[in-house]
Amino acid sequence: MKFNSQLLKELVSIYGPSGNEKFIRDYIETEIKNYVDEIITDDLGNLIARKKGNGNKIMIAAHMDQIGLMVTDIDDDGFLRFTNIGGISPYITLSQQVVFENGTIGVISAEPIEDISKLKLSNMYIDIGTNNKEETEKIVDIGDICVYKSDYNENDNVVFTKSLDDRVGCFVAIESIKQIENNVNDLYFVFTVQEEVGLRGAKTAAYRIDPDIGIAIDVTGSGDTPKAKTFAIGLNKGTAIKVKDNSILTHPKLRQFMIGVAKENNISYQLEVLEYGGTDSGAIHLTKEGVPSGVISIPTRYVHSTIEMASKNDIINSIKLLSKMLEDNIKL
Ligand code: CO
Ligand code: ZN
Repeated sequence: MKFNSQLLKELVSIYGPSGNEKFIRDYIETEIKNYVDEIITDDLGNLIARKKGNGNKIMIAAHMDQIGLMVTDIDDDGFLRFTNIGGISPYITLSQQVVFENGTIGVISAEPIEDISKLKLSNMYIDIGTNNKEETEKIVDIGDICVYKSDYNENDNVVFTKSLDDRVGCFVAIESIKQIENNVNDLYFVFTVQEEVGLRGAKTAAYRIDPDIGIAIDVTGSGDTPKAKTFAIGLNKGTAIKVKDNSILTHPKLRQFMIGVAKENNISYQLEVLEYGGTDSGAIHLTKEGVPSGVISIPTRYVHSTIEMASKNDIINSIKLLSKMLEDNIKL
């Protein structure tokens, strides 16, 4: 399988913080519409694409939204104060460039601080290079959201880019949609909204679809960097089959099914026990009377930073695992 760098590069570069997923949704819709039987956007903004089958209903979720910074105030000199949309670290954010939907560029800085460990988002500001409040108000409003600005790069092993969380999950889902033929199961691929602010799109989409089984595709962390906290996940060691995070305990039969598919097809995999965080499957599995659910994770370094890193081999193995699972007849 060839690694489609161009597609991933485009996916990570499109503006789409939580609640503002229109551009990324339009892009994905154009990319997949010829490969699915039905495609709709629901009232919250989730893109739901169906590949019809006669077997169990399977919901596959990857979130389209990315983290961002929302403007809360504009001062007399034209500087912007902000709050976080999703998990934003003050240390990672300091001195970074950001970009708004209308293309306005800003740089993040902080009030003078003696003890850097006391750095908080509330002491930081965005400077968009205007002279005063009036000038700022012409281009940025309260409630506008900016996202990190950084370049996409890759070498033979890895990609370096912002927003792998979770555009790489969208990438895996899109590449699977293109490959899968003659599926037995009734497949609902959902590109969800507002995951980063609490799995909101996945919750309403799961209610609508009422699936028999749920699978989320998302990034996870890694424990393979210097003095990292013990975590048996590393880059280039395979796709990760989640056992648990803070939002879900993967249904044991589904986990066994996933492991079986990986073994049968010689797909390298690792088992993931994450002691924090959650994914869309956390919302899906609690729908109605309960939906057995699991997660395919892409091991990723520096999650929620301006340059996240993942292994191309792991991404390809994730596509293979998802495609092979969905071509099989999933019955638990
Ligand atoms: Co995230
Ligand atoms: Zn995510």
